[in-house]
Formats: sequence, C-alpha cells, structure tokens
Amino acid sequence: MEAFKRAIPIAEALRRGEGYATVRGWVYRKRSLKEKVFVVLRDATGVIQLVFQRDKFKIAEDLNIESALVATGRLVREPRAPGGVELHVEKVEWAYAGEPYPINEDAAAADSEYLLDVRHLWLRSRKMQAVLKIRHTVFEAIHQYFRRSGFYEVQTPMFITAAVEGGATLFKVDYFGQPVYLTQSSQFYLEALIYSLEKVYVIAPSFRAEPSRTRRHLTEFWHAEMEMAWAGMEDAAKVGEEVISYVVEKVLQERAEELSLLGRKTEPLERAKPPFYRVSYDEAVEILRKKGVSISWGDDIGADEERALTLEFDKPLVLYGFPEKLKAFYHRNNPDRPEVTLSFDVLLPEGYGEVIGGGERIYDPVELVEKIKRFGLNPEDYQWYIDLRRYGSVPHAGFGLGVDRLVMWITGADHIRDVVPFPRDVRRTRP
Ligand code: 4AD
Repeated sequence: MEAFKRAIPIAEALRRGEGYATVRGWVYRKRSLKEKVFVVLRDATGVIQLVFQRDKFKIAEDLNIESALVATGRLVREPRAPGGVELHVEKVEWAYAGEPYPINEDAAAADSEYLLDVRHLWLRSRKMQAVLKIRHTVFEAIHQYFRRSGFYEVQTPMFITAAVEGGATLFKVDYFGQPVYLTQSSQFYLEALIYSLEKVYVIAPSFRAEPSRTRRHLTEFWHAEMEMAWAGMEDAAKVGEEVISYVVEKVLQERAEELSLLGRKTEPLERAKPPFYRVSYDEAVEILRKKGVSISWGDDIGADEERALTLEFDKPLVLYGFPEKLKAFYHRNNPDRPEVTLSFDVLLPEGYGEVIGGGERIYDPVELVEKIKRFGLNPEDYQWYIDLRRYGSVPHAGFGLGVDRLVMWITGADHIRDVVPFPRDVRRTRP
C-alpha cells in the first residue's frame, strides 16, 4: 500500500524532470527494443515513458495494454519521449498484469457500434479522457456562471405527471400501479420556484423517448435550465449568450491541451463572444430560400435547415419569433404580432445547430387556459401550472440548454454519443 501513496501524478513527474519518483497508472503503449522495454504509462493527469532493463525486469515482458503498475525510478530528460521526460525504472513496487486488453482499433474503425459496446473500457482512451475533462470543466463553468450572476441552484423532480414538451416523447413509468412519466424538462418547476427565489437554475437529466437515432439526440441528456422573474425573451437570450461564452472561455483557458489532443480548431470557439447574431424566424426563412432551400413561412426549421443557416454565420445566433404552432403551448405570443411567439433558440455555428430553446412564458391565466385548449390539451392536466398565474403572476422567461450538445460543439465531435460517458438512445441502454 505504501508505494501507492508515495506515487506522484504523472504530470508532476514531467514537471520535475529529475530526481527519483514513484508513479502509478495503466499501460498505454508498450514496445520492446533489444535489451530495453519501453512502456508508456497513463494516469488521470498524463502519460510518461518508463524504461525497463529487460534482463532485470522479467515482469515488463508480461505487461499488457492496461495492466496496472506502480514503479519507482530516476527521472531523465529525453526530448524523444512524450512530455520530454522518461523514468528509468529501478523498482516495480506493484503490478497487476491482468488479461490481454480486448479493444481492437481495427474493429473500431470497421464498426461504429463496437466502441459503444465496449464503452466501459473505451473510457480509458486518451480521447475519452480528454472529452471527460472538458465535460467536467463545462459543468463547473455553468454552475459558476449562474451562481456568480445571482441565480439560486434548485432541485426538481424527475417523476412527473404532465408533459412539458408534448406527449409524443414521454417515457411512461409504472409508479405503484399509477402511470407517471420521466421529466422532459424542469421548466414548470422552475416557474414555480421563481416566486420564491426570482432567479433559479438546475442542471439535471431530462428524458425524451426519441424514436430516431440522430447525431444530436439522446433519450437521456443533461439539461441546464434557468428561469427569471421580471424578464422577457431578450433578457433570457442575453443570459444564454453569456453562459455559452463563459463556458467556452473557461474551456479555452483550462483545457487547451485536451482540445489539441482532440484536434479541435479553436478559432470558432474564440469567436463565440456576445453579442451573438439575432435572426428572426422571418429572416431565416428568407435566407434559406435564397440558398435554394424549399421552405415556406410556418414550416419547421429542422436539423438540415439549421445546419444550412449556421453555415452562413461565423458565431452562434439567436433565432427568435417562431410561429405559434412550431413551439410549445407555454410560450407567450407577441402582443404586437400574435401569430408569432416570444420564443428563441440559440444555434451553434459550423452546422451544429440548436443548443438552447427558451423564451417568455404566458403569465396571464386566461391567456394560458385558452392556449392550452387551442393546442388540444386538457387544462386539468396543468392545474398547478395554471394556479401559479393566479397569485402575483409576473412576466418571466427562461431556457433549457442541452449540455451534451454544447460539449459536442466545443470538442468538435461528430456525434453526441461521442461526448457522453454512457450514452442512451433508442437502441442502447448498456453498458
Ligand atoms: O428546446 P427544448 O425541447 O426546450 C425545453 O425543454 C424547454 N422546456 C426548456 C426551458 O425553456 N426550460 O430543449 C432544450 C434543449 C435543446 O435546445 C437541446 O439542446 C436539448 O435541450 N435537447 C436535447 N439534447 C439531447 N438529446 C435530446 N433528445 C434533446 N432534446 C432537447
């Protein structure tokens, strides 16, 4: 046990570059050359090359990829080694050779499902390690942004009884014999909480029974949602652009190494500073038409249209003023132009598309009940939500940000599944 505790992080060993050190970790690469065995050891902080004299360390021969090892030796500067430093091993303190590692990069190249099947092991790859560190920083930055901007963090239930985003994507759960659902969004609960705390946010999973597999849909995703009292659509959009630029800036500062390991070009991230472009739904339809997309006013702006639109802009854009029928019932209609709502999405550039959906909510109870009925829903299902409008109701607005989609863009991933440790979609619930 003592040797485990004496070990220093590999990044620290690289910094020291001289003297004696104990390191611990997992074998990332191994190659034998005449009388020496070179092992690249990996821990959570980095990689270092270990050099074994073959005649002294028979065990070096037995090490597999991902064998665990604790070794002591002398640090020596060596420009050809990764990180410029290697450890000349003098003592193997502990080793767990294990079985030959099953991950086969050729199989991975041939079959995109393969690495998902072995995700419990693939998490050890340097690529996943970099993604997970960026995710960590993204979540930290979202919390920091909201807390520093006067929002209270709150907790909301995952078992719910009424649809926020339409019945089609609800997951039904048997709750002691009663049907309940997994939440699609914490929005309604946040709307209740603003009357206590005025500015609130939550980061929690949301669930959607998305029947198709796309590059940006999961059935379980992480949702950062905020709600503010005394606020309108533009106030919420400003918070949206601020939180995104805050997160991106922190990742650029603290995760440059990981971004470079992933081969991510940073210019598009560096440009993501407020103000983002503001594009109305009407303008978007015009832009798309000019590009030859067949779209009429009132049509949905789906993934393909979003992609085409974002390629026209060099930073994120706030797309606002969607026609009533394209957005959920709770969005307030524009009093000056009732056919459109005070709703907005934030679209990420480079073809990534929607990352935030939000807007101003209906605060008048009569208007709300009318709209619920106009949407063919039953006001009884929304009894407590309507109740909120009966007592000191105020204009308010908020949004939901898909954290996995934000990480996808920041890391430059092709697929949302690539940035989630254990992704869930229509075909996958394990590992
Ligand atoms: O646009 P959506 O459906 O909005 C809401 O749920 C609002 N009730 C939020 C609010 O105002 N509090 O979802 C918000 C965001 C999307 O922009 C997207 O980034 C993400 O959540 N999202 C998904 N991410 C991954 N997989 C899915 N299936 C997603 N569905 C939505």
